[in-house]
Amino acid sequence: MSVKSGRAVRLGMAAKSALIVAGLCMLAAMAFAFSQAGSDRRLITPTDPGVRGGGPGAGQALSGLSSTQTQTFTAGQTNFTTPFVVPDPANSTTGGLGPVFNSNSCSSCHAQPAAGGDTPDDLPGASGTNELFSVYQLDGATNTMPSFETTNGPELVARFPWMLNNPTVPDGSVHQLFTVTGRSDATGCNLAQPNFSQAQSDNDLVFRRPIETFGDGLIEIVENGVITAQATAECSNQAQTGVCGTVSVDPHNGDVNRLGWKGQWRGLMTAAAEELNTEMGVTNEWFPTEINQTQGCVFNPVPESGTNFIPTIEFYDFTGDPERMTVFMSFLAPPIPANFSQAALQGQTEFNTIGCTNCHQVSYTTPAMSSMGTFMESKTINLYSDLLLHHMGNCLADNIVQGSAQGDMWRTPPLWGAGKRAFFMHDGRTSNLITAIEDHVWNSTVGTTCGGSYAASEATDSVSAYNALSSQLQQDVLDFIRDL
Ligand code: HEC
Ligand code: HEC
Repeated sequence: MSVKSGRAVRLGMAAKSALIVAGLCMLAAMAFAFSQAGSDRRLITPTDPGVRGGGPGAGQALSGLSSTQTQTFTAGQTNFTTPFVVPDPANSTTGGLGPVFNSNSCSSCHAQPAAGGDTPDDLPGASGTNELFSVYQLDGATNTMPSFETTNGPELVARFPWMLNNPTVPDGSVHQLFTVTGRSDATGCNLAQPNFSQAQSDNDLVFRRPIETFGDGLIEIVENGVITAQATAECSNQAQTGVCGTVSVDPHNGDVNRLGWKGQWRGLMTAAAEELNTEMGVTNEWFPTEINQTQGCVFNPVPESGTNFIPTIEFYDFTGDPERMTVFMSFLAPPIPANFSQAALQGQTEFNTIGCTNCHQVSYTTPAMSSMGTFMESKTINLYSDLLLHHMGNCLADNIVQGSAQGDMWRTPPLWGAGKRAFFMHDGRTSNLITAIEDHVWNSTVGTTCGGSYAASEATDSVSAYNALSSQLQQDVLDFIRDL
């Protein structure tokens, strides 16, 4: 579907230049337009309906698991939700935290609306909290909380695009927020936190928020060729749509990577093992070395989580934490959408017409045969993502090159479950769906484009077409997304 031809985009361009000329913020431009729906021509201002409460939700297992699969799912859920401590006695599944870490359990960051999910809904009035505040000084730890973590904000993981004090040399890696210094189970360790305030004043600090893992077991088995074919199809329409997704290719074997904000991970096992090491500092068979090896702060033999060779325990306890956590995540069912309201159905049509589906591709289908069981076979999954990388412009760029992703590229995030998300975009910059849409192209909060030399966002035409919709139809799009 071409969004360049036709009325939508001509109006879109007009709306956009009017905005820039007048220097008005996006909301003002959209406000108080007359509704075209209904006979009463109501005056409406499009509003994000907010986090959808009540059921249906997410967090349950796929239906069709065998009883041993259900047992393994439940055991893995325990690993995913149990807090880790520093000491690691033999066969412990909860030892190995630190020396540096961001939090002490997977579910402290992956919790919304259930274990496995997104960063908790801790917006004013919600019941959640930014869990990092209950972790950073736990057991006597002497950490201070970096200013970018707030009690009502998303849980953010920090990266430095450049080496601290050396802004021409790329860094790009995660810098853990906390150390075990001062904890009663880490006596003798003396290790300072990274200097986040210096990084912030050097403009050398970027953030990422957690990504929910519901339905990821189905996403990871979509065949490589299905995703590359989608990229080919997109790029052959580029002249009409401005959209041409890039496949995130594993340089070792050509496999198609697909998880993470930059599409950096092939599947759940790699992600879990790396997350265990990066977020919690727990060494494992995939990442067997401590990230930080400061003398006096390394307390355990490595790997801290590994294959358990004691044959008297249950079979599903044999493997290490990454494996158990992976089984839990890969059996998590996709989020269940609400029954679409009339408005949401209209919004779904518009979402397609204005070209959101050029990237937020409605569905993929899993392979015809799975050794896990028929419950994973030939499933059409409505994830609303092409799992491809896109150039998203200066306002979203984080200047980090990661695998196939350039400094301005992001993987289209799946929108299934978006109805229950409290924060949007890779850095959790907003809890407002309207800002999330406008920010595909420019920084809508301050109403400007951003400095930098990256190409224009591939979403430019589609956001222009969104802005050209009547305020009633914009509302329908918002209602649709909040029903997902
Ligand atoms: C401090 C917060 C935090 C903790 C703790 C944490 N994560 Fe994450 N998780 C993140 C962030 C941030 C991302 C996005 C990473 C990126 O793409 O750079 C993420 C992404 C993921 C993804 C990718 C999901 C997708 O669909 O793309 C998986 C899987 C995951 N985490 C699993 C885990 C597991 C397993 C644990 C526990 C061992 C864990 N995480 C602990 C913050 C956290
Ligand atoms: C060129 C591809 C592309 C198009 C077209 C596109 N998006 Fe996106 N969308 C993305 C990417 C990439 C992100 C993540 C960007 C980031 O976080 O920096 C995103 C993020 C989002 C998010 C936030 C999801 C989250 O969990 O943070 C929403 C909501 C969304 N898009 C809705 C839309 C709507 C509505 C349209 C149509 C007006 C649209 N998108 C068009 C690629 C696209």
